[in-house]
This record gives sequence, structure tokens and C-alpha cells, in this order.
Amino acid sequence: MTTVKAAIKVSPRRSVPAASKTIALSTPAYPAGSLLSIAHLAVSDVSTLLAAATRLEKEDTLKRMKRLEGRKVALLFYESSTRTRTSFELAAKSLGAMTTLVSDKSSSIEKGESLKDTGITLRSLGAECIILRHPASGAPFLLARETGLPVLNAGDGTHEHPSQALLDLRTILAHLHGAARANAVTEKSLAGVTVAITGDILHSRVARSNALLLPRLGAKVILCGPTALLPDEAAALGEGIVIERDFEKALEQANVAMMLRIQKERLAGPQIDLENYIARYQLNSERLAACAPRALVMHPGPMIRGLEISSEVADGPQSAIAEQVRHGVAVRMALLTRALEARTAVAGGKA
Ligand code: NCD
Repeated sequence: MTTVKAAIKVSPRRSVPAASKTIALSTPAYPAGSLLSIAHLAVSDVSTLLAAATRLEKEDTLKRMKRLEGRKVALLFYESSTRTRTSFELAAKSLGAMTTLVSDKSSSIEKGESLKDTGITLRSLGAECIILRHPASGAPFLLARETGLPVLNAGDGTHEHPSQALLDLRTILAHLHGAARANAVTEKSLAGVTVAITGDILHSRVARSNALLLPRLGAKVILCGPTALLPDEAAALGEGIVIERDFEKALEQANVAMMLRIQKERLAGPQIDLENYIARYQLNSERLAACAPRALVMHPGPMIRGLEISSEVADGPQSAIAEQVRHGVAVRMALLTRALEARTAVAGGKA
């Protein structure tokens, strides 16, 4: 693990220009069909992906199973995951692809094999796309470069979680504008919409990908939390992002209240007084009723009930948390189709 971290040295700030509108997707360094950062997608790409997600979701099951029949997809997970891993796997299987799961707990990774060698091994075994979750920020960039395969970033360190941002966007659009208009995404799709993201912003790749995506579609993003979990510099992530320390003030403006878990596993220095945190930042029924009685409540999971969110709110009528998970399968079907179509094009070009 130390070797991987040392070799990568990709700082999130350098790899993702804030608020960048369009970055060429298939640069020679990163294979076409990859999704390494949400900033690599133009608004038109986001629109194409969401439209594909809806088409695939509606398609006849047997017809859909033919789309990636016989294709091989590897899931390479160096960190625990429930929703992301399962939905990528179900998405691949719904398209007829063969999947194989390699986790750091039961593979040669435990014996010290590097990310590069693991990737090359998977490619030799016929993998045409790798879905990677890794604790080191930037790891998917290294894997894509070293294998030449399309890589889908399923969460890298505290850097990004682009497929989560896409499924969050689909959830927001479906609620605010109805399913029919959740596909045509433009720079104005979220005009007038305020999304308050509250909690451990410092360690959250979900917050980062959402903060990079939503303002490009016209949304105002409020980041909320104590300084230990939300440094002032976070406002520099891009245009359309503001910091509000007072949770109730943030909620009063919010059309969407996105709550985040405190990532204890990444908390190195700062210690949080949990009682104080709950008193100031927990989304509970009283607060929701008083400050945001119509807001959509979201959470990427895993939730710690009783800490950042109360059970009543998590299971309540304003909650879209279960829906977020469902949108994940459709969005990931679109991403896998895009990755493997790009792979076919590359293979065809070489023939
Ligand atoms: C998150 C992650 O792993 O980044 N969950 C997810 O993928 N849906 C958030 C977290 O771990 O708290």
C-alpha cells in the first residue's frame, strides 16, 4: 500500500481543475471510456449518459442482456463497499457481461502485489474494463495509464466518486423536474436549485464530485460543517460554492439536503466531540420540519443513524436515500456501456 501511495503522488488539487467546463475525455494518457473525475465530462456528456441510463433501464431484459454479452469486467476493490460494488456488478450482469471481483482481502494484493501488476494481470485474463475503488487519491489515473484499459473510478481516497455524483444528479432531477426531464441536462438544469451538503466534507469524495458537478448545471452548493471537517479553503473548489457554518441557515435555503457520514477511518488529527456535533449538525425531524419542510433528503450511505441523521428522517417521506441506490444501477449501466463501446472502437481501430 505504501508503494502505491508513493508511486501515485497525484494531488487532487492538481489533477482536477476547479469548475473546469470541458476537458478532452480521451487524452492519450487516459483511455477512452474511462471515468476518472467528474470534471472530465462535458455537460453534453452528462446529458448523453443520463439519457443512456434511462434507455437501458427501460429496455427489455433479454435484449439488454445481449449488449455486453461475453465481455469481461473486473471489479477491483481495495476498500469496503456495499452500494457501489453491488450496483456496478448488477449493472454489468444486467448487460450480459461477465464480472470478477478482486478485493485486497483475498488476493495477491495481500502479499504485496502492486496496483500496476494487479491491473496488468486482470488485463491478461481478458478484462476489458476495470472498476476501481482505492484508498489512495489518484489511483484510478495510474491504473488507466498502466493498463490502457478504460477505468471507472468507484471512489479514490478523499478525491472523487464520479458515478455517485451522476446518480445523485439523476435523483435530484427526477424529483425536481420529473423522470421525463431527468435526461436532457443543460447548464441551466439546476438553475435556482440550492443543494446543502453537510458533514465531513474534508474527507468526502462524494462531496467533492458533487461540488464539481452541480454548479456547472446552475445549482448553488452550500457546504456546511464545523471547521475541523470543512476547512475554509473548500469554497475554492469552484464557482457557485459557499460555506455556511450554521446548519439551520443552510437548511432554510436548501431544496436538497445531502448529509454525509463522519469518516472516522480517515480522521487522523482532529477529534470531533460527537455530542456537540449531533446537537449542531444532525438532521432530525424537528430541524427538518422547522427549516426545510419541503427539501429532498439525500445521503450516499453508509448512514450512521442517530449521528448525522435520525432514523425518522432517513425513513421519512422526504427521504430519497433508497432511490439514490436504485438510480445507481441505471447510471452504472450507462457508464459500462460507454466504456466497453470505447474499448471495442480501440480494438477495431487496431485490427
Ligand atoms: C461513500 C464512499 O465510499 O465514498 N459511499 C458510497 O460510495 N456510496 C461515502 C462514505 O464512505 O461515507
